[in-house]
Amino acid sequence: MVGKIVGTGSYVPDNVLTNEDLSKMVDTNDEWILERTGIKTRYITEDDTTSSMAIKSAVKAMDDSKVDPMDIDMIIVATLTPDVLVPSVSCYVQAHIGARNAQCMDINSACTGFLMAYQIVQSYIQCGTVRNALVIGSENLSAITDFTDRSNCIIFGDGAGACVISATEGRVISIMHTDGERGKVLEAESRTPKDWMEREKKKLTYIRMDGQEVFKFATKEVPNVINEVLEKAKVNIEEIDYFILHQANKRIIDFIVKRLKIDADKVPTNIERFGNTSAASIPLLIDEMNRAGKFKDAQKLVIAGFGGGLSWGASYIEI
Ligand code: UT7
Repeated sequence: MVGKIVGTGSYVPDNVLTNEDLSKMVDTNDEWILERTGIKTRYITEDDTTSSMAIKSAVKAMDDSKVDPMDIDMIIVATLTPDVLVPSVSCYVQAHIGARNAQCMDINSACTGFLMAYQIVQSYIQCGTVRNALVIGSENLSAITDFTDRSNCIIFGDGAGACVISATEGRVISIMHTDGERGKVLEAESRTPKDWMEREKKKLTYIRMDGQEVFKFATKEVPNVINEVLEKAKVNIEEIDYFILHQANKRIIDFIVKRLKIDADKVPTNIERFGNTSAASIPLLIDEMNRAGKFKDAQKLVIAGFGGGLSWGASYIEI
């Protein structure tokens, strides 16, 4: 058995931050941001937290799936911005939706987090321990973004996306890589809201990123891992209906399209509106695609993620 996405949901806060708004905060402009990243707007939390956004996206996904909350066996939330260390965000979600039979955990694999959570759920389903799972990516990145650093603050946004996944017949083949030796390329030390408030006092840092190194890493490793997973699945790249990629930067996506020589129409994007929402970006995109009626039976899909760790991976899906 493998896991099929049977329901999706997403949530972003109401508060829109435009490139124009950012140009009043740091020395930047709409033209530079659009050309270098493809981003026009991003959503920033005011009253929301990682948990509240996770819950709002989960409620919509559960509603879409029609799965009874009592039949959910596992909830995994991928996030690098949990509200508190314990309990995990997944426990808040469980309590809210009444999924009392679910085992719950959070994982942190930065922007690769949702894909890693998806692959974990596939493993549990394949070994028969889980029949229905809820996988969520939720991020409150604005809480750890330095809005005086123009090379960083233009990229990130907040939001959450959720998928209900149920056991069925099909093929899912996955690959995941991590390279801890390159971890310094993307770092964030503060973890809890209390830390965030006391950040200056404790000399804790915001997200620090060597943008060019991340760029080089992504444009090399993502095409490689997509080729690797397709080789493992014994499927030609032309057969793929959609490539669902982490929305880090439109230029990275354009590079990947070019390097793989694939049709750009098969690589949907929404980074223009949401920015880079880390672990939330892939489920936000999946929800949009689902609601636009893009998914049909017997399609061949690839999901690819990459980010801090460094970590990167891909799943081939045929259900
Ligand atoms: O999910 C994974 C997370 N991260 C990523 O995906 C990020 C990947 N990297 C990137 O997206 C890009 O590296 C950035 C968008 C972050 C930066 O773009 P870049 O083309 O690598 O710019 P750069 O850092 O090389 O800077 C080029 C110039 C510099 O000026 P000088 O030294 O050439 O005069 C920067 O100071 O652009 C300047 N600059 C800006 N100018 C206007 C940097 N940020 C800005 C800005 N507005 N916001």
